[in-house]
Parts: sequence; structure tokens; C-alpha cells
Amino acid sequence: MTQRPTVIAGNWKMHFTKRTASRLAREVVAMHNAHPQSECIVFPTFVHLEHVRRNLKNSGVVLGAQNCHEAKTGACTGEISPYMLRDMGAEVVLVGHSERRHDFGESNERLAKKLKTALRAKLDVILCIGETQAERESGDTFVVLARQMAALKGVKAELAPRIRIAYEPVWAIGTGLTATPEIAQEAHAETRRLIAEHFGPDAAATMPILYGGSVKPANVTELLAQPDIDGALVGGASLTIENFGPLLSAAPK
Ligand code: 13P
Repeated sequence: MTQRPTVIAGNWKMHFTKRTASRLAREVVAMHNAHPQSECIVFPTFVHLEHVRRNLKNSGVVLGAQNCHEAKTGACTGEISPYMLRDMGAEVVLVGHSERRHDFGESNERLAKKLKTALRAKLDVILCIGETQAERESGDTFVVLARQMAALKGVKAELAPRIRIAYEPVWAIGTGLTATPEIAQEAHAETRRLIAEHFGPDAAATMPILYGGSVKPANVTELLAQPDIDGALVGGASLTIENFGPLLSAAPK
């Protein structure tokens, strides 16, 4: 029996209206109440945070944000501070999602700053890491993971319980190509070794590592059965309760 909770998280990306996001939030709450064995987090867009928050109120479902800026306040037109997210009721933020890294050019250095400001703002963090297809093919997967995990450098070990990692191979995101459970497990085991390097063996034993990349009801059980896969960060299949519900009920008891 692992000492780690199973975490099922829905990254809603740039989808929904305030009405449809609110409805899905209510459906997720009902499903989570029926299957409370996992930790459940939803990540709506910034503009839907308040609507979703109202619909999650007093439920066990946690409200998260998809991104934040690295500064507390300032002349940063169009950006959102982690302190603002905390003020809006978010409890956790994604840092380093591959769409931020690759479509918006966010560097490891910048992400390291975001992670630290978010922790200071009292947000928990899910640090997203993962290699591209080209990096995997050239045998660089572990080098890339180590470089991305270096965002944890300088973070005090006592903050480790507020951090989770999501391994999301870029080639598996939104492509329908899921990493096989064996490929995912190998990357998760390496990620856990890197957690131990940063924070020591206790943190490595207790920090959840989520897998992301085309997770769906048909493949979630075999992924969660791997010893180092502690949950899922789900994009496409988190957008309807028909797909997301079975992921919550699949979490091991
Ligand atoms: P998909 O589940 O759509 O592949 O997206 C994964 C993801 O990016 C979650 O953050």
C-alpha cells in the first residue's frame, strides 16, 4: 500500500462558458461524493474560477488555476499573480504545462520563479514536466526531466508536501497516443529518483506523481496500477462527466 493519495485532476484548458463550466463543476462534485477515494482537482480558465468556486463550495473538490505570473504585483498587462489566484479561492496552480513551455516559450528559469512565487502565495503547485517526441527519440528523456525538475532547486524540503509532479510526455498530449504503462512507469520512477535528490527519500516516498497524456476511461486502470503512477492530469477526457466520472470511480480504494 503506497503512502500516497490518488489524485485525479481535470485541466479544462481554454474551454466552456461560465454556465457550462459551472454545470460540469456540479457534476464533478456529485461524482466525487459518490467516489471519494481520490483527491479531485479541477482547473478552469481564470475567468471561470469564481463561477466554478461557487459550485464547488463545501465539496471535497479542489479549485486550481492553469498558470500564474512569477511576480506578486506589477506592470504585467494581461497577467495574473498567484496572490490574486489565492484571493479568488484557488488552492493549487499548474506550473510548466507543456502548452506554456512550447506555445508560450516559458523557460525553466521562468518556471522556477513561478513555482517559488506560487508557494509564497500559499498555493500548492503541480509542476508539469515531459519530453517531446524528438527528445525521446534522441534518448534525452531523462536529461530533459532532470533539467525541468531543476525548478525545485532552492525550494526548502519542508515545502515538499505542497508540491506534486505531473509527467506529461508532449507527444502524448491531445494526440490519442498514450504512453504505455511501462514507458510511463519508467519516467515516473526516474522522476521519483529526482525528487529524492532534491528533497530526500521521505519526500520521494510521499509526493504524488501524476501521469498526463490522453488518459481516458479505457486506459486509466492500467496506468494507475503502476507502482509510481499516483494519479492522472487529464485534458480532453475531463471535459465531460461521461468521461471524467469513470476516471474518478477507477481510482483504487
Ligand atoms: P489530454 O488528456 O487531452 O491528452 O491532455 C493532457 C494534458 O495536457 C493535461 O494537462
